[in-house]
Amino acid sequence: MADNTTADKKKLFIKTYGCQMNVYDSERMAEAMGGAGYETTDTPDDADMILLNTCHIREKAAEKVYSELGRFKGLKADNPDLKIGVAGCVAQAEGKEIMRRQPLVDLVVGPQAYHRLPEMEAKTQQGVKALDTDFPEEDKFEKLKGRSKAKRAPTAFLTVQEGCDKFCAFCVVPYTRGAEVSRPVDRVLTEARDLVERGVREITLLGQNVNAYHGAHNSGDMTLAGLIWELNKVDGLERIRFTTSHPNDMMDDLIEAHGSCDKLMPYLHLPVQSGSNKILKRMNRNHDRESYIKLIERIRAARPDILLSGDFIVGFPEETEQDFQDTMDLIEEVKYGQAFSFKYSTRPGTPAAERPLVDDAEASERLYRLQALIAQQQRAIQDSMVGRNVNVLFEKPGRLEGQMVGKSEYLHAVHVADANAKIGEIKRVRIVESERNSLGGVLVSD
Ligand code: SAH
Ligand code: SF4
Ligand code: F3S
Repeated sequence: MADNTTADKKKLFIKTYGCQMNVYDSERMAEAMGGAGYETTDTPDDADMILLNTCHIREKAAEKVYSELGRFKGLKADNPDLKIGVAGCVAQAEGKEIMRRQPLVDLVVGPQAYHRLPEMEAKTQQGVKALDTDFPEEDKFEKLKGRSKAKRAPTAFLTVQEGCDKFCAFCVVPYTRGAEVSRPVDRVLTEARDLVERGVREITLLGQNVNAYHGAHNSGDMTLAGLIWELNKVDGLERIRFTTSHPNDMMDDLIEAHGSCDKLMPYLHLPVQSGSNKILKRMNRNHDRESYIKLIERIRAARPDILLSGDFIVGFPEETEQDFQDTMDLIEEVKYGQAFSFKYSTRPGTPAAERPLVDDAEASERLYRLQALIAQQQRAIQDSMVGRNVNVLFEKPGRLEGQMVGKSEYLHAVHVADANAKIGEIKRVRIVESERNSLGGVLVSD
């Protein structure tokens, strides 16, 4: 490989949609393409290659890709050497269809084939279109490993598990990401140490079903809690988070870790989707509202101040007003500090796609009511932080002159105006005000 200077490096523009795993994957692809003579740019205008890392979870997300691609027509006309690629879950789900619908596209790569991206790019330089949506055996993460030692922001994602075997009736993920696979413990630890050396203080472990993690370790497998305890020993790493968890995989050792592991933060994203047992059954969730509520009680017994977050789908086929009320009641009972909620979106090929839909206006109205309730709970929990002391990991300058912003252990955004608040440092902060989407505080010395 040529030792390129910045001047003759090609420019890669990556636009990322969807979940945190796509954010992580985009970083890995950028690093892999670094080895092929590319550096990233933050505008498509001067790019030699544009890569859309896409999401297929709802219809709107998937359709966005085609409108975005259409916008690159002018750029390609100005620069016929520009290569346009589609990665991510739409690439996996729609493969050839993308090339057919949008002839501008030179390359389509599914999430399990990212390590082959440099070879695919080389092919496009020969004027040949490249498509790879295989699920190969080799360890893509090992092959994607970048050699960059560049300094990083204080927080980072680290994928430890990918894919899903749960097949919820509405969801495309088991098809786009494939079967559940966990990365071996040693490889995760090596990557974590490398991140810490590069300035990372907080790592969020990622997986579509992260708490189903069972990574190879010595002669057996290690659970997510085991992995967290190993990470707890890494000097310089101050905080550990993980997402997304499934209620059925919330094992005792993980609940216990929330009570006893210093570096594990008191925040848990535990989607329930619905509070109606009838709907949960039809969603193929394999848990009911009672088992979920019981689980929340056990988690709160281990860590009383934990902040809970969730995902909800409203208007799932055959959801009645009573089913929806069951969801509202569950929310009232649990009390969330944060939640994501969506109107059901039909995904072709999933079991629920064949079922009768709820009236769209009705579904929108339910979503509105649910979001109002969540907003109220979120506000109450955020407001209750005023007067309390929290630990804040500072990440970047704030909106106003002299401000620094970071996150508390509960993932609230906190800003202070103090020259002693430095990026990458954790400081004790007294919360003095609760604003729209953030908290204001002052440094304290206890
Ligand atoms: N693996 C995670 C999240 C997967 S996708 C989990 O199991 O919780 C993120 C969220 O998108 C889901 O939790 C669900 O609430 C939502 N979602 C998935 N498919 C959907 C669909 N067809 N329509 C609307 N929302 C959907
Ligand atoms: Fe989708 Fe269900 Fe798997 Fe989550 S657990 S990724 S919602 S199939
Ligand atoms: Fe979307 Fe794929 Fe993530 S469908 S939510 S990008 S796993």
